[in-house]
Amino acid sequence: KNDFAGPRETLSVTCKIRVFPEIDKTVRYAQMLEKAGCQLLTVHGRTKEQKGPLSGAASWEHIKAVRKAVAIPVFANGNIQCLQDVERCLRDTGVQGVMSAEGNLHNPALFEGRSPAVWELAEEYLDIVREHPCPLSYVRAHLFKLWHHTLQVHQELREELAKVKTLEGIAAVSQELKLRCQEEISRQEGAKPTGDLPFHWICQPYIRPGPREGSKEKAGARSKRALEEEEGGTEVLSKNKQKKQLRNPHKTFDPSLKPKYAKCDQCGNPKMCVQPVPRLLQEASLQRDCRLPRSRIAF
Ligand SMILES: Cc1cc2nc3c(=O)[nH]c(=O)nc-3n(C[C@H](O)[C@H](O)[C@H](O)COP(=O)(O)O)c2cc1C
Repeated sequence: KNDFAGPRETLSVTCKIRVFPEIDKTVRYAQMLEKAGCQLLTVHGRTKEQKGPLSGAASWEHIKAVRKAVAIPVFANGNIQCLQDVERCLRDTGVQGVMSAEGNLHNPALFEGRSPAVWELAEEYLDIVREHPCPLSYVRAHLFKLWHHTLQVHQELREELAKVKTLEGIAAVSQELKLRCQEEISRQEGAKPTGDLPFHWICQPYIRPGPREGSKEKAGARSKRALEEEEGGTEVLSKNKQKKQLRNPHKTFDPSLKPKYAKCDQCGNPKMCVQPVPRLLQEASLQRDCRLPRSRIAF
């Protein structure tokens, strides 16, 4: 019962989790969230260790087991790169919906089952930004994803995209990339793609290199992250941490200053008894469940 947040009609509680290596532990965690009032659960089928170059494939097996074990709608997340993946995931796991992040950033037409020319979506995106302005770093990050494959070919424009300081400057780089692609197309009229990569100017997934290939990539010119971070000059915090700091200027990211919590013997999560229990939680039965650390509950 969703009894810790007031009347059900006023607040929907949805959760998103990663999986544990063990399927049964993941299922128990999902059931615990359902019992606590979660009304829709998204399961990212990777463990907390599967990040960056260690991402690897998401486990739909875990997601399927969760879907079978709970009555609330489940969304699957991970390994969704094209419309066929969406269909296969719905069929194989029985989930009610899917979520895609990186795949959708590389091809925003993913859910339409199209792979348009990159400039088509880049121009549409830039029109939206002109209508609804946002920080330049967001625009740059989007275009780095969209133009990813073309920027491997036109490295100097990758550097330019990282450096320009205005929206129109970014739009000019995008326009130049478009012209170069169109010139290439007119030179290669009728040519077939060669090698592993289809034409680089088509919206398509980016398959993250494994740890070995990743280290080779780093050994080359400056990493993409370094280029993306040039805007900030002396930037030290990641973009996500900067956003968190904007919301809470007193937040510290120094691990040595973080409060240390004793771990629960049963679940490994921080013990609930370390700090006083907030009033709202005192009224809820949740406080007695050692498997639900207070630090994971947002009010
Ligand atoms: C730009 C970006 C921002 C993200 N922000 C969040 C976030 O705020 N909260 C969250 O739970 N996951 C966030 N994620 C993770 C995604 O929701 C998703 O779980 C992860 O990327 C795996 O899905 P994918 O294989 O489709 O990319 C973000 C991912 C990306 C690429």
